[in-house]
Amino acid sequence: MARPDRRLYPWAVQGKIAPLTVTHAKGSHFWDSGGNRWLDMCAQLAYVNIGHAHPHVVEAIKRQAETMPVIAPDHTSPPASRLSEMLAEVTPGRLSQTFFTNGGAEANEHAIRMARTFTGRQKIVTRYQSYHGATLAAMAATGDNRRVFSEPHMPPGFVKTLDPYRYRCRFCARESKCNLNCADAVEETVLGEGPETVAAILLEPITGYSGIVVPPDGYLQRLRDLCDEHGILLIFDEVIDGFCRTGKWFASEHWGVEPDIMTVAKGITSGYVPLGAAIVSDRIGDFFEDHYLGSGLTYAAHPLACAAGVATLEVYLEEELADRAARLGKVLMARLEEMRDRHPSVGEVRGLGLLVAIELVKDKRTREPFTPQRSETRNAEMTEVVKAVWAKGARPAFRWNLVIIAPPLTISEEELDEGLDAIEAGLEVADRLVAVAV
Ligand SMILES: Cc1ncc(COP(=O)(O)O)c(C=O)c1O
Repeated sequence: MARPDRRLYPWAVQGKIAPLTVTHAKGSHFWDSGGNRWLDMCAQLAYVNIGHAHPHVVEAIKRQAETMPVIAPDHTSPPASRLSEMLAEVTPGRLSQTFFTNGGAEANEHAIRMARTFTGRQKIVTRYQSYHGATLAAMAATGDNRRVFSEPHMPPGFVKTLDPYRYRCRFCARESKCNLNCADAVEETVLGEGPETVAAILLEPITGYSGIVVPPDGYLQRLRDLCDEHGILLIFDEVIDGFCRTGKWFASEHWGVEPDIMTVAKGITSGYVPLGAAIVSDRIGDFFEDHYLGSGLTYAAHPLACAAGVATLEVYLEEELADRAARLGKVLMARLEEMRDRHPSVGEVRGLGLLVAIELVKDKRTREPFTPQRSETRNAEMTEVVKAVWAKGARPAFRWNLVIIAPPLTISEEELDEGLDAIEAGLEVADRLVAVAV
């Protein structure tokens, strides 16, 4: 194993990794310095939604670089203003004003700060199966095992509650129907903490890399009602879910539930230039008309990022990528369900649109995970699975006992099939390992 340079890499024991040097990328593929072509089955970190090197966005970045690459955030620029208008149009209902950041963690930091200022309360309720970013407050909000590396020096005021993870739900996994006890659990947490101390409930409508968990019908509405009853703000982290990935512009639209604040990043520029945002409702926007918004970032509303954002949103609209993700998502799920029935190592397939996971198990009956969850270390068994998939030239994401599929929304059906064939090679390896273990 060798690193190609003097970089320190994220989420890694440095001596154990061998990162690819990627030299170019186009559409659904990227190429490494050894000349290998890879099919990008997870759009990098689920963000290259419009595919690699889309000419419309590349042109917009070039044009902005020639006109005005940078201006400070206390001024505005045509792309920053335009993007704030476009976001007000594409986001649901009363979401109307945008605070720009450089990425998802900062978007959540600012959502939390604004919620605390607005309500005058401190506590933020989040869930165990969640990731909200690697800065301190975002990490304190995070529930999954990525949090432990920052403990115990966490900022106070964050409270965790349980998740609607039906496959392993402590309430209803063995029941024929979800009984929404997962929503009762959130309510219990809020009541136990004292609702008058809770500023916000912050959650990913569809959980991203902490499990790809789709909430049961009625769940988000229950949280909306709970918030309304107690004057608590509802914050949806749509950093992964947003921008057409799940078959709608934003995942919460599948259930028609509106948050008070929505945080976004990733798909807002398809990652071409770093950008995030906390988008607030009229009510919160109005509050800051005569209250001090006590926060800011040197690179906020960066013209290059906002120009990339405007052009990316134009691509979503022009190429109707939400509908495309919905349609391809159905094709993908049909094929995955058929794979689940054939492979002993596949416990469940789940997701929405082009945000989907295969959950690997040692035994379908007991649902024992194929490899441990809540661990960043990849064990020997999963390493074998990964190798088999990579040998076929495709790169989905692997986390815990999950294979995560989140390709560019522009992927063709043939490419999707090719990627699934590669993943199937990994499942065959998993099947053999499961059979040996039994
Ligand atoms: C749901 C969610 N929220 C927030 C973040 C943090 O975003 P960033 O890495 O841009 O700070 C991520 C990153 O993966 C994410 O998946």
